[in-house]
Amino acid sequence: MRIHKYEKIWLTFGIGCLFVFLTVVGVSAFAEGNQPPSCLTTIDPEKVDQTPPFNKPGLVKTGNNEYQLNMVASAFTFTPNQIEIPKGAKVTINITSKDVIHGFEVAGTNVNMMVEPGYVNSFTKTFNQPGEYTIVCNEYCGAGHHMMYGRIKVVD
Ligand code: CUA
Repeated sequence: MRIHKYEKIWLTFGIGCLFVFLTVVGVSAFAEGNQPPSCLTTIDPEKVDQTPPFNKPGLVKTGNNEYQLNMVASAFTFTPNQIEIPKGAKVTINITSKDVIHGFEVAGTNVNMMVEPGYVNSFTKTFNQPGEYTIVCNEYCGAGHHMMYGRIKVVD
C-alpha cells in the first residue's frame, strides 16, 4: 500500500503532537510535588471528637523534623486554627469534616484539599519558607464560609 506524502507528514505531525501533549500533562500533573487527592481512610463524621487522632487535634512530632498535623473542619472553623511549624519540617496534614464539605487551602502553596465528611484527607508538605500562611476554606459551606480561615506560622 502506498501512503501519500502529505498523509505521511500529517500522520507524523499528529503522533508527535500526541506525545508532546501527554508529556506536558503527565509531567505538569506531578510537578511541584502535587499529589493525587487521597481519601481512602473513612471515619464516622458523628464521632470525629472521639476518634483518634482527631480527638486531640494539633501538631504531633512523629520523627526527626517530621510532624503530623491533625485538623478538624466544621462550619465555620478549623481546629486548631493557629499553628506554629518549625522551618524545614515535613508535615503530613490529616483533615476531616464534622458536617459538610469544606476546603483546605494554604494560600501561596500547593496545599489544596477537599475536606469531606466521612473521609480523612491527607497531604504531605515540607515548609521551607518561614512566614505566615493563611488557611482558607475554598468550598462554599454556608453562611459563615467567608469567615472560615486559620493561620500557619513557619518559624526558624
Ligand atoms: Cu468551610 Cu467554606
